[in-house]
Amino acid sequence: MILIDRSAPVAHQAPQSASHAVPLEQLAAALDSQLAALGTLEDRIRAIAAAIPGRVAFSTSLGIEDQAVTHAIATSGAKVDVFTLDTGRHFAETYDTLFETEGRYGLKIRVMYPDAAETEALVQEDGIYGFRYSIDARKACCDIRKVRPLNRALAGAGGWITGLRRDQSQGRAHVPFASFDAAQNLIKLNPIADWPLAQLDGYISANKIPVNALHAQGFPSIGCQPCTRAIKPGEDIRAGRWWWENESGKECGLHTAATDTQSK
Ligand code: ADX
Ligand code: SF4
Repeated sequence: MILIDRSAPVAHQAPQSASHAVPLEQLAAALDSQLAALGTLEDRIRAIAAAIPGRVAFSTSLGIEDQAVTHAIATSGAKVDVFTLDTGRHFAETYDTLFETEGRYGLKIRVMYPDAAETEALVQEDGIYGFRYSIDARKACCDIRKVRPLNRALAGAGGWITGLRRDQSQGRAHVPFASFDAAQNLIKLNPIADWPLAQLDGYISANKIPVNALHAQGFPSIGCQPCTRAIKPGEDIRAGRWWWENESGKECGLHTAATDTQSK
């Protein structure tokens, strides 16, 4: 018996009106240039908070990029809704990072969970490691555990901040600072898009920012525990994510906008 409705519509806000589309696209284009010209991450965060109409939300995976952004949000004093997606399959070290970060910054990170009934149906049908058996099963798991909770967290927001960087992978090589995300109906912001790894590491150590202990054990990119392994010297930063899949564009569905992956 099929228990999971894989075609169920995701919880989205109402599509934008046509009169709204142009201003948001224009605002995104203006912000893209403005952010490029600003030297510090704190200035970029302040500019985002000032320019975006409505709630600005930041999705943190508690990975090293996102820890830098969290630090800048906390020190800039900008009003940002910080949330994380708890898939239920994270490493213990990721929960430790969440706990430590809240304490360090006196910050409450909103933790989003997958729908219990959908998760139970998924595991009932596919098994506890069902995501290993096919790309479709893997994407169904990411959809239920990550994408749908993301959509709920972003519903009604005007801006969405991420820690995407261009040098994380070829597919991310042209990530903009700001773009209109039609699927989420908001402006997506990537304030460290242009940071090379050395700049990120420098910012982390200069500010003594707490990071996931796994980064020092060969995990540059950390997702769910069963879908993340350490990388070997010389391997691509994201080689340890869904390593059994051969497809080149390994993404979980959080970042699907054409602007994230377009080649210029
Ligand atoms: S992923 O799409 O492959 O999982 P990656 O780990 O590189 O993404 O993170 C890229 C960005 O996606 C992060 O900077 C963050 O904004 C968002 N993100 C990824 N995983 C999570 C999560 N569990 N909770 C919240 N945001 C996340
Ligand atoms: Fe499921 Fe793996 Fe995706 Fe996590 S990364 S949601 S465990 S398939």
